[in-house]
Amino acid sequence: MGKQEPLIFEKSRPGRAAYSLPDLDVPLQSVKDLIPKELLRDNLNLPELSEIDVVRHFTHLSEKNLGVDSAFYPLGSCTMKYNPKVSEEIAKLPHFTEIHPYQAEDEISGILELLYNFEQYLCAIFGYEAFTFQPAAGAHGELTALLMIKAYHENKSKVSGPRSKVIIPDSSHGTNPASVALVGYETVVVKSNSRGNIDIEALKEVVGDDTAALMLTNPNTLGLFDEHILEVADIVHKAGGLLYYDGANANATLGICRPADLGFDVAHFNLHKTFSTPHGCGGPGSGPVGVNKKLEPFLPVPRVIKQTTNYNLQSTNYNQSIGRVHSFYGNINVIVKAYAYIRSLGAEGLKKVSENAVLNANYMMKRLRDDYFLKYDRTCQHEFVISAKWQKEKYGVRALDIAKRLLDYGFHPPTIYFPLIVEEALMIEPTETESRETLDAFCDAMISIARECETNPDLVKNAPHTMSVKRVNEGKAARELNLRWSQG
Ligand SMILES: Cc1ncc(COP(=O)(O)O)c(C=O)c1O
Repeated sequence: MGKQEPLIFEKSRPGRAAYSLPDLDVPLQSVKDLIPKELLRDNLNLPELSEIDVVRHFTHLSEKNLGVDSAFYPLGSCTMKYNPKVSEEIAKLPHFTEIHPYQAEDEISGILELLYNFEQYLCAIFGYEAFTFQPAAGAHGELTALLMIKAYHENKSKVSGPRSKVIIPDSSHGTNPASVALVGYETVVVKSNSRGNIDIEALKEVVGDDTAALMLTNPNTLGLFDEHILEVADIVHKAGGLLYYDGANANATLGICRPADLGFDVAHFNLHKTFSTPHGCGGPGSGPVGVNKKLEPFLPVPRVIKQTTNYNLQSTNYNQSIGRVHSFYGNINVIVKAYAYIRSLGAEGLKKVSENAVLNANYMMKRLRDDYFLKYDRTCQHEFVISAKWQKEKYGVRALDIAKRLLDYGFHPPTIYFPLIVEEALMIEPTETESRETLDAFCDAMISIARECETNPDLVKNAPHTMSVKRVNEGKAARELNLRWSQG
């Protein structure tokens, strides 16, 4: 783990190559003539290595990574759950990988049938009338949903007047206000109360005839289910607003409750979290959006329609649609993996997923509550938020230090400093697939770090000690987005 890996450029030696091709049997100039002049370069400055050195270099780098296949990865709000390999196998079948979106509909009826069935499953799981699969991620789903909400209000505004504000609780995910700004609405923040629910009185003060929608994550980013959700829905609906469910993290509620039944008119769901498709590093995601009858006319097109035994794509007959938000039908490969996941678990299996996710989170919360400050002391859902407040006040050790020290114990750290309403937050999401032994090992590490804060705070403040990369300048990495290697 701790050994430094030189850069591939540092390993480079002139003349080495990882390929062996037959000599060119046409004049070099005739090849050069095929390439536009402005793209021709004399020196590409590429590293020169043999094949085995390339393989070893990238294998070494991959071994330095903590991934869900190599370590416990309790990154709250990100649901880094295990990605079953059978779903990968299914998505790799040539029936899926060797079709092309420009093929004639009758040649791709298999994938259309899969999309149609998948829509039926999601409608059954979450209670909606219809879904679009075009959004490529959760944030893209938010944007799509808000565009539909806007179209809905614009359609009604002849009767009820324009609406310009979207209410968001102070515990919300950062993508929510960003999406609101993108569609040209204004964000109004409503505070949470001492139990982590939306403060009903504060909500009543801000809701009005300019309210376009309320965006809510439930369970919220504190891992808490809003105890007054039906009242919240009623207040917003009575004012003529719509209720938006940020269902990025639906891991606590599968088979237990459905957002549409709670009053949410529209919702997005992250397949790359709840339905276990791989994610991280910005890899392809999928954020389908479900709608009730009110918003169905505004769904993106094309939609997959079943006509007796045939499956078709239809764009006509939807003249109120917001149009396309993605090329073709979205990230199909991600959808196939999520479909395989749902099929392999079935209804009972999905319910068990949520029950176990909630049980695991509550077990860990109980084990850690004596050593870390717990701001909201109530039953949590799939995740919980503890805090390094005590450690900071007494020993000057911060959540960031604890996260770094966890690396020395072989664990990926939890999410830190989010949600913003908990100081020195450590947001832990174990997911359903972890064994009791793994949960205990992580809790033991956290408790051991709490002891280290008392006896040797500098050990924690200077962590990690076992990694080849120590503390990085996180501000610089975010502000200077230059990832290119340059010589000298
Ligand atoms: C509550 C919540 N909403 C929205 C998102 C955005 O999802 P994505 O990262 O797929 O855009 C996330 C992702 O972490 C989330 O946790």
